[in-house]
Amino acid sequence: MIKEYIQSNQQRFLDELFDLLRIPSVSADSRHKGDVRKAAEFIVKKLKDAGADAVELCETKGHPIVFGEKKLNTSLPTVLVYGHYDVQPPDPLDLWTSPPFEPVIKDEKIFARGSCDDKGQVYMHVKAFEAMMKLNQMPCNIKFMIEGEEEVGSDNLGTFVKENKDKLKADVILISDTAIISLDHPSITVGLRGLSYLEVEVTGPNRDLHSGVYGGAVANPINVLSQMIASMHDENGRVTIPGFYDKVVSLSDADRKKLNEAPFDLNEYKKDLNIIDVRGEKGFTTIERTGIRPTLDVNGIWGGYIGEGAKTVLPSKASAKISMRLVPNQDSQEIAELFTKHFLSIAPKSVKVKITPHHGGQPAVTPTDSKAFKAASSAFVEVWGKAPIPTRDGGSIPIVSLFKKELGLDTVLMGFGLDSDAIHSPNEHYGVKNFLMGIETIVAFYKHFSKN
Ligand code: BES
Ligand code: MN
Ligand code: MN
Repeated sequence: MIKEYIQSNQQRFLDELFDLLRIPSVSADSRHKGDVRKAAEFIVKKLKDAGADAVELCETKGHPIVFGEKKLNTSLPTVLVYGHYDVQPPDPLDLWTSPPFEPVIKDEKIFARGSCDDKGQVYMHVKAFEAMMKLNQMPCNIKFMIEGEEEVGSDNLGTFVKENKDKLKADVILISDTAIISLDHPSITVGLRGLSYLEVEVTGPNRDLHSGVYGGAVANPINVLSQMIASMHDENGRVTIPGFYDKVVSLSDADRKKLNEAPFDLNEYKKDLNIIDVRGEKGFTTIERTGIRPTLDVNGIWGGYIGEGAKTVLPSKASAKISMRLVPNQDSQEIAELFTKHFLSIAPKSVKVKITPHHGGQPAVTPTDSKAFKAASSAFVEVWGKAPIPTRDGGSIPIVSLFKKELGLDTVLMGFGLDSDAIHSPNEHYGVKNFLMGIETIVAFYKHFSKN
């Protein structure tokens, strides 16, 4: 029944998703403020059309939050669906094979910014809801909270959650904003890394200098910054910030073994990225390096002359954006402080250092013995014919730990993307099959969650 509904409405579902994907809701770019709002209004309309009663555009200091709900019966369990309608900037534009906000299907995949992260996955929930309403088989109460600032740190969502605890009362949070291993190996994410993100600026002389006249006698901030960054990993690929690993939870040998039993082909991985070898912390596998170990990475670095030709200059400043991915029980704020203290301590007297913190978020693990996890598991078995494999993802969804802390609610991370979907990159895409099977799996989740 549900299968037929999805099949016969498939073209309309895709057409509507395409309309949403055409709205360039880039939350980081203030020029797109109006577009971000348009995307929120689009979700409001579609939730109303699907049969939600109370749908509101909740204003915040930043981009609006869409809240909607369908209350059927207080005796039924309530599911709170979270997702985000904002997207990452599409840059670099020249690397897209088709324009980022003109969705097209190639190779049975939808190409557009946000197709996977997270508009495509949010829209599966809207259409699953529509299907259950139309077929008269909505077995739970449902709440939607779809935000427009996930890609910029969810600052205002935190405030919204703290101020609306009653409104957000539910039995579980359901999120589709992560990945499965592959279409042959469905999985459920049971852990997300946290994040601590800072920007550093190293200043040498008060102005750019002739690199011949002064070179060798005055600190070059780019040389110094490079040295400082290089010193933050040792020869075993471990981060050298004192205290960095103090609170890291080590997994038991049995848990590590289980984690590594997930299907993973290192050769395929290397081939996909066109790299000869991987690199990371000694003593850990690739799955462990991204799933259960913390890291430090430079996301951007700049300074000096980068124009055409050669200019002999000893620059006054150099900067970098540095992020650290965190695992339980590291604390985002504490790690930012450890970084700051260490970075200042390794700076030579010949330069001045300025450090500005950006957003952060706590790591999260979700339970595998809850009623909701079991319902998600059963949903995969029903639709995919296979039990989902629990995985630890390397990305971050900061709000998950906040849901637990502020609302006391556990989350089920039932995402349907693939690591190869190029989220945040040029040519982001999302499989049509992932989209359609996702809708079916979500519907099955409600059915199983309402039982027992
Ligand atoms: N959906 C991603 C997070 C993600 C991707 C989790 C893949 C698991 C697998 C989310 O939109 C995201 O990009 N989060 C940011 C954090 C945020 C604070 C900017 C991230 O992980 O960089
Ligand atoms: Mn996302
Ligand atoms: Mn993202």
